[in-house]
Amino acid sequence: MTHDRHSYAEPALVRTTHLALELELDFDAKVVAGSATHTLAWTSPGERLVLDTRDITVTAVDGATSDGWEPLEFSLALPDEELGSALTIRTAGHEQVRVSYRTAPTATGLQWLEPSMTAGGLLPFMFSQSQAIHARSWVPVQDTPSVRFSYAAHVTAPPELMVLMSADNGTESRRTGSYDVVMPEPIPSYLLAIAAGDLVFEPTGERSGVWAEPEMAKRAAAEFSDTEEMMRVTEALFGPYRWGRYDLLVLPPSFPYGGMENPRMTFATPTVVIGDKSLVNVIAHELAHSWSGNLVTQDSWDDIWLNEGFTSYVENRIVEAVYGTETAVMETAIKQHSTAKLEPFTPAQLVVELPGLNHGTEYHGTTGLGPLKGSWFLSWLEERFGRDVFDPFLQGYFDRFAFRSINSTDFVQHLHEHLLTPHPDVVTAAEVAAWLDEPGIPAFAQRAESARFTAVDEARDTWLRTGELPSGGKSWTTQEWLRFLDAAPDQLSVIQLQQLDREFTLTGTANGEIARRWYSIAATSEYIAAYDELAGFLTRVGRMKLVLPVYKALSATDEGRAFAAEVFAAAKPGYHPITTAAVQKILGSGT
Ligand code: BES
Ligand code: ZN
Repeated sequence: MTHDRHSYAEPALVRTTHLALELELDFDAKVVAGSATHTLAWTSPGERLVLDTRDITVTAVDGATSDGWEPLEFSLALPDEELGSALTIRTAGHEQVRVSYRTAPTATGLQWLEPSMTAGGLLPFMFSQSQAIHARSWVPVQDTPSVRFSYAAHVTAPPELMVLMSADNGTESRRTGSYDVVMPEPIPSYLLAIAAGDLVFEPTGERSGVWAEPEMAKRAAAEFSDTEEMMRVTEALFGPYRWGRYDLLVLPPSFPYGGMENPRMTFATPTVVIGDKSLVNVIAHELAHSWSGNLVTQDSWDDIWLNEGFTSYVENRIVEAVYGTETAVMETAIKQHSTAKLEPFTPAQLVVELPGLNHGTEYHGTTGLGPLKGSWFLSWLEERFGRDVFDPFLQGYFDRFAFRSINSTDFVQHLHEHLLTPHPDVVTAAEVAAWLDEPGIPAFAQRAESARFTAVDEARDTWLRTGELPSGGKSWTTQEWLRFLDAAPDQLSVIQLQQLDREFTLTGTANGEIARRWYSIAATSEYIAAYDELAGFLTRVGRMKLVLPVYKALSATDEGRAFAAEVFAAAKPGYHPITTAAVQKILGSGT
């Protein structure tokens, strides 16, 4: 087991095996109040239990005795800015410890939305985002992915709101104001999730469906109508789906991510519901986490490639099986191209941004390339060994480590035992070491080749040289547009942008992936004609991947930065706390 430097918990001494939550959602105070009762497994009868908390007020701690509860002494340490406050509880090896607490309105893992920030506009909304280390801001837990527990929750809320958790919610939208759910499988704390709002259910299949606000539910179910097929193809490749139902919850646009793989209930951004299924790789990705991440989990955040790299690989296999090779290859090429913008790396940057997979893949660099390297490694293994060998190998890995948290060494051992040793002479030790121990993407890594992208590249070159617009542009897929913009110069002339806009109406696009690229170029090129729509986009949407690049592009000039600060001031009340913090980092303090 790895020591987790992102948690104060001491799982070598004691672990939570089950968590019982009693929660009340108070929308007026923007507070969750209640209790978390931990069932504990002690390695040897110990004297203290350390839990992670951030911004939580602890009102009482009790330990179970044979005839009730007895109060326990506890102390909250001074907060560390990143990690929060360790809650140290004096126990006599109690099997159950109950912490009574309330959250702060500023809890980093929760967002409370006024009715005006929802699609319906009449009822409030709240949701959690626990990954990576925000569960501790709404539940006092051992907030490390090396500890897994089942949970049960009883939640009360205003009766007009539906409450959902990462658990067995069922499919009935009965508003009772009192909800009971169970997650029978052991999960790590970052998969604790809750949401409440005006939510209704639309089925997309036997085992799957969509929860969303009423005005969004039918459209979302149509966008995500391939979910059941995605489940079937993943099961055929990598073994059974082990979580019962798989539902999607479409959140308001302030949700800071594209998707979050909360078990049984993926949380998703509404920015992928655009009517043409062109961004549903996000759903393939979150579903893939039901194997890579939720079933087999990285035991610390330094090994996040075991979650995100594997998932990016499985995502692509799902896209291929459901939407065809051409789409899958284009999506891989888009991901691989993301390194190009950053090149050339200095050797020192390479070590930080793209370290060997065995050496911690995230939370060191700033570009988030770790998952790309991990998925590229798996694609390379697949190509070398062939799917006949590689697919059963991966299925065996999910099987062997199901419902466990492991580190890179566990994976590498498994790799040797079940792939490299039984199939010698397919890859060399030096090649494997290049992925696992050396920085960068190995020169021998294969690159995705897309004939369509070659044509897009030629069309772009012709346009840049002669001003002749791409003749096929009107029928390009989203992926082809992403390629066109990704490999275009950061800065174009206003005349060039006007020309594209007149023909293809990019300003005002409903597609967030196109928008983030187009508005970034518009900002760098000071294409003022797009600024109204750009500002509207930054105000409507809070998904970090979509808004941060545009803020970055704006902040390159003094005028742009001033404009960005103005837009941010207007948008901020609608942003999630972590989006706000990330924008402030770009624009500087005082915004
Ligand atoms: N689990 C991640 C989101 C995440 C990562 C939250 C790190 C907090 C810290 C999720 O599965 C994810 O990767 N989402 C992507 C989807 C995309 C890669 C298809 C997103 O949000 O854009
Ligand atoms: Zn992911």
